[in-house]
Amino acid sequence: MSRTVYVNGEYLAEEDAKISIFDRGFLMADGVYEVTSILGGKMIDFTGHMKRLARSLDELDMAPAATDDEIEAIHRELIRANDLVEGLVYLQVTRGAADRSFLFPDGVKSSLVMFTQTMNLTEAPAAETGIKIISMPDIRWGRRDIKTIQLLAPSLGKVAAKAAGVDDAWLVEDGCVTEGTSNNAYIVKGGKIITRDLSHDILSGITRASVLRFAREMQMEVVERPFTIAEAQEADEAFVTSATTFVTPVVEIDGQALGDAAPGPIARRLREIYIEESLKTGI
Ligand code: PDD
Repeated sequence: MSRTVYVNGEYLAEEDAKISIFDRGFLMADGVYEVTSILGGKMIDFTGHMKRLARSLDELDMAPAATDDEIEAIHRELIRANDLVEGLVYLQVTRGAADRSFLFPDGVKSSLVMFTQTMNLTEAPAAETGIKIISMPDIRWGRRDIKTIQLLAPSLGKVAAKAAGVDDAWLVEDGCVTEGTSNNAYIVKGGKIITRDLSHDILSGITRASVLRFAREMQMEVVERPFTIAEAQEADEAFVTSATTFVTPVVEIDGQALGDAAPGPIARRLREIYIEESLKTGI
């Protein structure tokens, strides 16, 4: 059975969903997106995702395609129509369709596309085994704080990681790790959680914000600063966070095992607490 998806005001079977070939998302990657995880049929960190969407749109001078209440209602309808219990809702806003031009078109309505994807998030095997990563240069543009749909650089990173026989890549700029291809990066040393501070260099992860809040509530020390791959290889633990991986331990960096090459206790605890709290606070 095909999924029900949402395209500009209509709920359609996925095979009937169409957008214009002149859509600026298609022609220029002129669009932004959000991925909200769904646990037990409920949306996790939804308010955070809506706030970041509004910021991404504002930074690109793009009109919102719908109100937050409308977007919430569409999420609910897609979850219902697709019997989604665990997985994600993908949302994409593009500047709309117009003749190809480098300048922003006037009077064009933004386009909104949303769909669901079923995924096993809580029982993901990577949470048990941990993931292996390699490092590579960060070749993305300079405004990674805006969640744009230009994902070719991270896609190349994941492809290179797979070719190297590992799970993912951490991106490095000026000697320090920025973030993972599609997640925020952390190390743990002497009980301290270290992660790069927010700037235009990285995406302000919604999962990052929740995980750091839980860590501080549990009296764990959090230090927001850049770190190098060499420092990460000497760390006690490492992990990544995102809406689809929650907290996932990293057990090997550029061929060097961390500790005993097994998920560390802090990453495990943060994952547990994130899932526990999300199940309570999901809407
Ligand atoms: N990626 N950094 C990058 C570059 C990301 O693409 C993502 C999310 C994150 C984590 O953000 P959040 O915690 O809000 O999911 C950090 C999503 C999941 C994706 O592209 O599929």
